Amino acid sequence: MNTGFDTVIDRSNTASLKWDRYKGKDIIPLWVADTDFRAAPEIIEALGQRIDHGIFGYTVPDQELEQLVVERMRNLYQWKIKPQWLVWLPGLVTALNISVRSVAREGETVVVPVPVYYPFLMAPELGGRKSALVQWVEKDGRWQLDMETLEHAITEDTRLLLLCNPQNPNGRVLTRSELEAINQFCQKHQLVVCSDEVHCDLILDDTCQHIPYASLSDYAREHSITLMSPSKTFNLAGFGCAFAIIPNEQLRQRFNSTRKGIVPDPDNMLIGFTATKAAYGHGEPWRRSLLAYLRGNHDYLVKAINGIPGLRMKPLEATYLAWIDVSALQLDNPQTFFEQAGVGLSPGAQFGDKNYLRLNFGCSRQLLEKAVDRMAKAVAAQG
Ligand SMILES: Cc1ncc(COP(=O)(O)O)c(C=O)c1O
Repeated sequence: MNTGFDTVIDRSNTASLKWDRYKGKDIIPLWVADTDFRAAPEIIEALGQRIDHGIFGYTVPDQELEQLVVERMRNLYQWKIKPQWLVWLPGLVTALNISVRSVAREGETVVVPVPVYYPFLMAPELGGRKSALVQWVEKDGRWQLDMETLEHAITEDTRLLLLCNPQNPNGRVLTRSELEAINQFCQKHQLVVCSDEVHCDLILDDTCQHIPYASLSDYAREHSITLMSPSKTFNLAGFGCAFAIIPNEQLRQRFNSTRKGIVPDPDNMLIGFTATKAAYGHGEPWRRSLLAYLRGNHDYLVKAINGIPGLRMKPLEATYLAWIDVSALQLDNPQTFFEQAGVGLSPGAQFGDKNYLRLNFGCSRQLLEKAVDRMAKAVAAQG
């Protein structure tokens, strides 16, 4: 295992969004989804070499980069894609919003399963579209999408389903049969799926496999926008480099015309392209070590959190984001309660469920243990 993940690196004075929120305060930041890990040495080296060249003009996503994505989809996810299906973007939140505006017309409806990463909740409204929210439900000990509820949420003017798989925040990886049910449902109602799969390289439960929604059937391929990026896995969020995979030409044209003149063309993504090439070309051993480290953190956390009376956490199938049920504590404001105890978490309300908190365990075990210790003490003092 690469023991580098255990190293505690001081992120103060680096303008870190995650750490600066609590600047000057003794609060451990376990909120926004970036990790405290240094990027893979191969990425840092590639960036250094590119910076040394000294000329940073407009840049294209070249053949080598696109081929790396094509090969990655084939090798990791048994999905055959073509380079011309790729659309490069400065971020996936941008892509979610473009998807909403290019698939549904103003006033039409977008279905969003909740709780979910909060930009999914905002995108329809920001674009003047309506949203129909459906709940993930706990059934047979796991989070499931209830197809009957989905069926009831559909209206005549529903055009798009915003899917997050692997799911942030409940950590589910949808199985083939679950995806097939969604595919059948979408075909029946002629829906397009925008499938945000940014966490697909972060499968913790090795009995699970990520299956791209678009790879399921001809219908899914022709009616989908798949979103991915190296930013979560390789901790490159500050570079703004993401891509959509849109096999259907008309849909891709609609997507591109919606972004035109508003979202920058990819020619200013030099640094992101350089990092992505290195990540996808040489980052696999590092990713495996990362997964081993995250699995260790995850297993520790599940045990420790479930050992605190009033807190409950289900094992995750993917992501480094724990979804913790704090309802038994009956707190007015769970986020503030734990902030006062010295731990900064994301409020579940932001994702659509105020009974929960989200905890980012993409950090050194040492820091995680310190945070959990503070949480346990705060709960004990409250009791
Ligand atoms: C599901 C999901 N989509 C998108 C993003 C953000 O992507 P970007 O930074 O590329 O906008 C995140 C970040 O946490 C996420 O969890």
